[in-house]
Amino acid sequence: MDNMSVSKKEALKKDMSVPVHVGVIMDGNGRWAKKRGMPRKYGHREGAKTFRAITRSAKEIGIRYITFYAFSTENWQRPADEVKSIMDLFEKYLDEVRDFIDENIRVRFIGDRLMLSPRLQKKMNRVEEDSKDFDSMTLILAINYGGRDEIVHAVREIAESVQNGELSPEDITQELIQGRLYTEGIPDVDLIIRPSGEQRLSNFLIWQSAYAEYYFTNILWPDFTKKDLENAVAAYNERNRRFGGI
Ligand code: FPP
Repeated sequence: MDNMSVSKKEALKKDMSVPVHVGVIMDGNGRWAKKRGMPRKYGHREGAKTFRAITRSAKEIGIRYITFYAFSTENWQRPADEVKSIMDLFEKYLDEVRDFIDENIRVRFIGDRLMLSPRLQKKMNRVEEDSKDFDSMTLILAINYGGRDEIVHAVREIAESVQNGELSPEDITQELIQGRLYTEGIPDVDLIIRPSGEQRLSNFLIWQSAYAEYYFTNILWPDFTKKDLENAVAAYNERNRRFGGI
């Protein structure tokens, strides 16, 4: 083996040590509250605290992109007061997000934001704009997000471009589709963590997870700690990712 390939291998190994993009499905808030005889919204409040703590832990570990699934396109089916409590927590977070901005963290949102209140949308746009040059880590919040919905949105945009003559069908490539997703410019997710014992993707980053590794744990999201994140990264390191090669 020549020196070049040794250094390339080492670089790859180094690259593998921390996943570049981690996705987190914040599951188990309701059960966490129920176990304590508390209303579900209490679980979401604790879940929001965990979200803040784990964002900081991710930065400390050296993760470059972290996406949290905060509200799915299916979550509107929940009782109105639970939906309101999640939206209120989200708004509270947006008001406090300056802390993250001070830490040089870029914030982005993925999902169909047009369904959210104009006030929320305004705050979201402002946070994205104010943090757009920050580069220590990118925090991505999936709000009113659904993977299939995201693909429909991209296909509609592409169809419009074909219809008005900007694109021809042969121009449609994986890269082009990728560039029309909400995650435009964000690398594919490497590791998806789902706590609370469920082992499903639930419409989260379905295009972007084509080669992702999965880490499942029975811990409920409000109890999830930095140690659990480190365990997930350690498990990821033990996997041998081949991307379809040998
Ligand atoms: C899933 O647990 C959790 C949600 C649908 C909401 C997650 C929202 C937050 C953690 C807070 C708001 C977000 C931010 C960014 C501040 P579940 O309710 O399905 O739990 P269960 O399966 O035990 O019922």
